[in-house]
Amino acid sequence: MAESGLGPVARNAEWLMHDLLAWYDRDRRHLPWRAAPGERPDPYRVWLSEVMLQQTTVAGAAPYYARFLAAFPTLAALAAAGEEAVLRAWAGLGYYARARNLHACARAVVAMGGFPRDVASLRQLPGIGPYTATAIAAIAFGVPGIAVDGNVARVLSRLAAIKAPLPAALRDVTRVAEVLGRAPAAVARPADAVQALFDLGAGLCGKTKPACALCPWRKGCAAEALGLAAELPARAPKPSRPTRYGAVFRVRDAAGHVLLRRRPPEGLLGGMDELPGTPWRATPWSEAEALAFAPDLATLATPWAKAAEVHHLFTHFRLHLIVYAATAETGTRLTAPDTAALPSVMRKCLR
Ligand code: ADE
Repeated sequence: MAESGLGPVARNAEWLMHDLLAWYDRDRRHLPWRAAPGERPDPYRVWLSEVMLQQTTVAGAAPYYARFLAAFPTLAALAAAGEEAVLRAWAGLGYYARARNLHACARAVVAMGGFPRDVASLRQLPGIGPYTATAIAAIAFGVPGIAVDGNVARVLSRLAAIKAPLPAALRDVTRVAEVLGRAPAAVARPADAVQALFDLGAGLCGKTKPACALCPWRKGCAAEALGLAAELPARAPKPSRPTRYGAVFRVRDAAGHVLLRRRPPEGLLGGMDELPGTPWRATPWSEAEALAFAPDLATLATPWAKAAEVHHLFTHFRLHLIVYAATAETGTRLTAPDTAALPSVMRKCLR
C-alpha cells in the first residue's frame, strides 16, 4: 500500500513525528549524557557525547564519557588540561585526531565565551562536521533539524524504501530527514525529535530483525509495506582491506613496566605510545628480519621469544603483528602501562 520515496513521507511527516515523539515519551532510553524531561541540557556534555558517539556505540562510549567527565568536569577544565592527559583519557576510542580536535575545540569555545548556538557557526569548530553540528544545535539549543548518523540513515532509508545502498543513498536520506525535521511536531521539540530517531535506530529499527510490529512508524513505513524492512538499506560491496604485517617487542620487568616509545605527532595513532617494533608492510617479516629491529637493551634477562600474534582492524587495512617478548632486569627505564596513551592495538599486544 505505502509507496516508496519522498512524497508519502512529506504527506505523512506531521503524524510520523507526532507518533514518534509519543513513543519516545513512553520508551526513551536513559543515557548518561541525556537531559531528563524538563532539565536543561549542558552543551559541554552534549558535544562530548556526540564526538564520542561518532567513534563507538552507546555501550562503548559510556565508560569513556564517565571517565572524561570525572577528569574534566567542565569545558574550562578540558581546555586547561594538557594534551597528554586528554589523549590518555581518549586512548582506546581510536582516531586520535579526534582527541586533538576535541581539545582544540574546547580551547576555541572557551576563547569564544561558550558554544555558538547555530549549525553554521558550530561547523567552524575543530572536529565538528555537519552531523555533529546539527545534533548539538538540536539537542543543546533546540534548533530544528534531524542529524543523520548511520542508525538514522538506516531508519529513514526503510521509511522511504530507498533501495540504493548507503552511502550513495545519503542524498535521498538527507531529503527525508529535512522533510521530517520541518514537520511542526518536530520543530516544537527539536532535541527530542533527534534523540527519538537515535532510539528508534538503536532499538526497534536495528540492523537485523527490525521489530516492525512494535514500531510507531509501521503504518507509514514503505519498506515494511513492501516486506523489505530487514533487507534495507542495501549493502554496498565491502571495500577490500589489505593486510599489513609487523612485529613488536615487549620488554617487561618484574613490576610489570614495559618499554614504550612515542609515535610521530602526525598520521595514524599520532602522538600515542607504542611498543617498539618494525615498520608495517605488505609482506610478513621473518624472525631474523624482525629481530634486526629489536630494541638494543644491555639488561635483558631472557632472550627474545615469540609470545603472541595480534590481529587488529583499522579503517583502511588489517594489521597482523607478531609479539616478541623478553624480560628486563629491574632498573631499566620502563613505563607503567596505565600511565601511557596506549591505543587498543597496543593494549592487545600487552595482554
Ligand atoms: N547516537 C548519536 N548521538 C546519540 C545520542 N545523543 N544518544 C544516543 N545515541 C546517539
